[in-house]
Amino acid sequence: MTEKRITIDYVAYASADEMEPRDRELVAAALEARQGSYSPYSKFRVGAALRLADGTVLKGANQENIAYPSGLCAERTVMFYAGANYPGIPFDTLAVAGGNGDEVCEMPAAPCGACRQVMAEYQKLYGQPLKIILIGTQTIYKFSRVDDILPLIFDSLKVE
Ligand code: THU
Repeated sequence: MTEKRITIDYVAYASADEMEPRDRELVAAALEARQGSYSPYSKFRVGAALRLADGTVLKGANQENIAYPSGLCAERTVMFYAGANYPGIPFDTLAVAGGNGDEVCEMPAAPCGACRQVMAEYQKLYGQPLKIILIGTQTIYKFSRVDDILPLIFDSLKVE
């Protein structure tokens, strides 16, 4: 038996002012994207902004439905939009901001497991790290690859 440990590295910023300009812009875009949230059931408004490798910035927001499971998170909304409309262009950085109504959470809202799995797939597809920025009013976290928020990624249908 061997005891093992998985550790992750990430950067915590006190505010977007400490970030490089491209990331600051993406934070602003994720916050703006919350305006597109359709969340009459949870009232939890999530915005996501995705920068593609060619510099294009796309926005998405959570979309709910009276048949609850039919809704979709902000992150998957923007990633699937990018996959459908910008095929072949790698994903560079995804920024996410969530909160009740007009408020943004103090501590960064973390993406759900299903969204992390979708991030992992696009990261593998494009063969380059997808950076993740999670936004709170007290702090902003930046991860340099999906593996850091989804250790032990499921990415193979082969039994080894
Ligand atoms: N939601 C997201 O958009 N992203 C996440 O990572 C977590 C949750 C949405 C789904 C639902 O519309 C609302 O937040 C409450 O769960």
